[in-house]
Amino acid sequence: MTPLSRRGAAAVAALAVAGLLGTAATTSAATGAPATAPAKSARTAQATALAAPDIPVANVKAHLSQLQSIATANGGNRAHGRAGYKASIDYVKAKLDAAGYTTSLQTFTSSGATGYNLIADWPGGDPSQVLMAGSHLDSVTSGPGINDNGSGSAGVLETALAVSRAQFKPDKHLRFAWWGAEELGLVGSRHYVNNLPAAERTKVKGYLNFDMIGSPNPGYFVYDDDPTIEKTFKDYFAGLGVSTEIETEGDGRSDHAPFKNVGIPVGGLFSGADYTKTSAQAQKWGGTAGQAFDRCYHSSCDTTANINDTALDRNGDAIAHAIWTLSGGGGTPPTGDVYENTADVQIPDNGAAVTSTVNVSGRTGNAPSTLKVGVVIKHPYRGDLVIDLIAPDGSAYRLKNSGSDSGDDVNTTYTVNASSEAANGSWKLKVQDVGPQDVGYIDSWKLTF
Ligand code: TRP
Ligand code: CA
Ligand code: ZN
Repeated sequence: MTPLSRRGAAAVAALAVAGLLGTAATTSAATGAPATAPAKSARTAQATALAAPDIPVANVKAHLSQLQSIATANGGNRAHGRAGYKASIDYVKAKLDAAGYTTSLQTFTSSGATGYNLIADWPGGDPSQVLMAGSHLDSVTSGPGINDNGSGSAGVLETALAVSRAQFKPDKHLRFAWWGAEELGLVGSRHYVNNLPAAERTKVKGYLNFDMIGSPNPGYFVYDDDPTIEKTFKDYFAGLGVSTEIETEGDGRSDHAPFKNVGIPVGGLFSGADYTKTSAQAQKWGGTAGQAFDRCYHSSCDTTANINDTALDRNGDAIAHAIWTLSGGGGTPPTGDVYENTADVQIPDNGAAVTSTVNVSGRTGNAPSTLKVGVVIKHPYRGDLVIDLIAPDGSAYRLKNSGSDSGDDVNTTYTVNASSEAANGSWKLKVQDVGPQDVGYIDSWKLTF
């Protein structure tokens, strides 16, 4: 589902992103509009472009059924060193390979058995800015581990598949991971972090962990580590009208700990394990007070019957929201500085060119090679219009020629290679109507650096 309220959450989250994983961005200096034209919130419009797709909970549940079948066929578990673990890895890997991921199996030895981490890289994005999401795929030996942690594994898998379905082009490089031997003490994730060369480590700008996200008597817990990741999740749930609490069941109890220990910003979601739901929690989340969030934690009854679909659905959607938001997707840099003029400028019919100015200051160096020029013009016959971007030194960049396009209005973002232009100064949008009969006006335009 995609409620309108989600847009609000997305907008707030995009603001938060500017602080953490982002490269640059201050809102205060970001407005070049003249005093007569107070800038409207350009970031709101931008954030909507980042909206993540809905993660179909039916797909997530289908993965859980497969993991259940794997456990059933392999002695009732998917534990490290057992056949059910390797079969789980093979299942996830085949899905990712078919979806266009570059996958690799990392092996390690623990308690005399070979363990496996599965790493899946989504091609593209900035290789020096990596956003990771992961979950442990192993169960304990006493059960099939469907909530712990088929749930997180399936949620991350379905998000990765959604990335492929959307042919998502995030600014950051995306890497997904399924860890082995978590239940033996975070063995797989620690092995991965310890074997990551220092130069690779510094590229990892965030790690999101999902361990138990479909608890049958669920709570909605957000890790309180990196503030921006935390806020991204909290804002998402706020947009759904679901309250959250800080995860306090024990820091360092899952695979985010090795990342956190080397200084990588981490965050994650958790729906509760063996702790008891209080009556206050039951009041806000529903479910049963005085009962564990997951009565089947580490037991043989952690089967597909041990899942709350609503929690699984919300948390799956929250994973996708965080991946989309924190990676700066949609091809539009979410952290760019926006300079906008929202003052209307009338365009005379078949007459002289008019301009609208955006003043840029406080930057260093030249404009980017991918300067985004967002243009909104109201006009009943846009074929009449010739549009140029004029750099501070007077150089003109043609954005649009006139033609026979009889459509209404221009509402487009042009990309201009402005790398030979100084960033600071007065930029102008120049618009000329070169055909008779129809009149219109520049509604607003903006530059995103
Ligand atoms: N796999 C974890 C464990 O067995 C589950 C868990 C319990 C957890 N408490 C947690 C995960 C708190 C994250 C945060 O310990
Ligand atoms: Ca969903
Ligand atoms: Zn777990």
